[in-house]
Amino acid sequence: MIISSATDFREAARRKLPPFLFHYLDGGAGSEQTLKANVDSLQEVALRQRVLKGSSELDLAAEWFGVKYDLPLALAPVGLTGMYARRGEVQAARAACTRNIPFIQSTVSVCSLAEVAGQADKPIWFQLYVLKDRGFMRDVLQRAKALGAAALVFTVDMPVPGARYRDAHSGMSGANAALRRMVQAMLHPRWAMDVGLRGRPHDLGNISAYRGHATGLEDYIGWLGANFDPDIGWQDLQWIRDEWDGPMIIKGILEADDARAALAFGADGIVVSNHGGRQLDGALSTACALRAIADAVKGQMTIFADGGVRTGTDVFRMLALGADGVLLGRAFVYALAAQGQAGVERLLAIMEKEIRTTMVLTGAKSVRDIGPHLLAG
Ligand code: GLV
Repeated sequence: MIISSATDFREAARRKLPPFLFHYLDGGAGSEQTLKANVDSLQEVALRQRVLKGSSELDLAAEWFGVKYDLPLALAPVGLTGMYARRGEVQAARAACTRNIPFIQSTVSVCSLAEVAGQADKPIWFQLYVLKDRGFMRDVLQRAKALGAAALVFTVDMPVPGARYRDAHSGMSGANAALRRMVQAMLHPRWAMDVGLRGRPHDLGNISAYRGHATGLEDYIGWLGANFDPDIGWQDLQWIRDEWDGPMIIKGILEADDARAALAFGADGIVVSNHGGRQLDGALSTACALRAIADAVKGQMTIFADGGVRTGTDVFRMLALGADGVLLGRAFVYALAAQGQAGVERLLAIMEKEIRTTMVLTGAKSVRDIGPHLLAG
């Protein structure tokens, strides 16, 4: 099939993946209102078209925490990325290194931090959840430090897992799930050969490393459910702030008051996010939440945003709404599932071209020039 956009990559991924994996990635919480709103309200952000103000000399570089990156983008932490392509986290990290943008590795990755860090030629960023098992958190934090992780992204919008109804229907969870997944794999031979067989072990690498024995997909949902901590508050995060002396980014902020609290806590950055519509169905879309948060903390900490970004124009819109950088989640995993590392690199090239086009047509010459003055209305 012809691939010219992230939407095409999604369709290619849908054809290739067993349904339980496609729907785990593609789906959201509840009736998926927030998932849909993320995409729709971002697309509704209108930009000011300017003429005879463009330039062929565009600067797309971003600088976060003293490091220069080539694009204002990072690959978001996505659990189980290694199920979508053979040793998927390694392939995605390599694509990110090639394009000189950060790869943020999820706690619940298939490949361990050591495997990814060993094969990436630039420092990766690491994502951590608030978990009941503090021993695990401490262990994995120390590993991340020892492996030279450049930043810690701390996800706080998952004190309980959201209600993901698609998973029960798709075979990700529910009755006879393992059998259903096996049948689906047999019906998707390209995935089964490449990832199902040759991409083994399908472990949760970081958790297995801590437990000292394999933690497979079968344990994934159970482990997640049992380990999230609804009682957590800002005061419980202090020990992490004390132990991690590098940049710390709080992911899952949707309210200006929470952004101010993150600043007061000593965070270096936030990710304005509703977890891709996978947690609180009915939460505000990121595009709607971002302006007020930027008004509250812009310039005092680094603001990242994610949710509904499918084109370079969407990246531009997030920057115009006040983000300093944009995280790609589903979009990059669709590309990874379809074509591995090369697919992610291709997606980033497509997005770069779209960002460049949007910059010329709005008269912005550098990422720093992109702001609310380019929003129409
Ligand atoms: C994990 O973070 C998920 O959204 O499934």
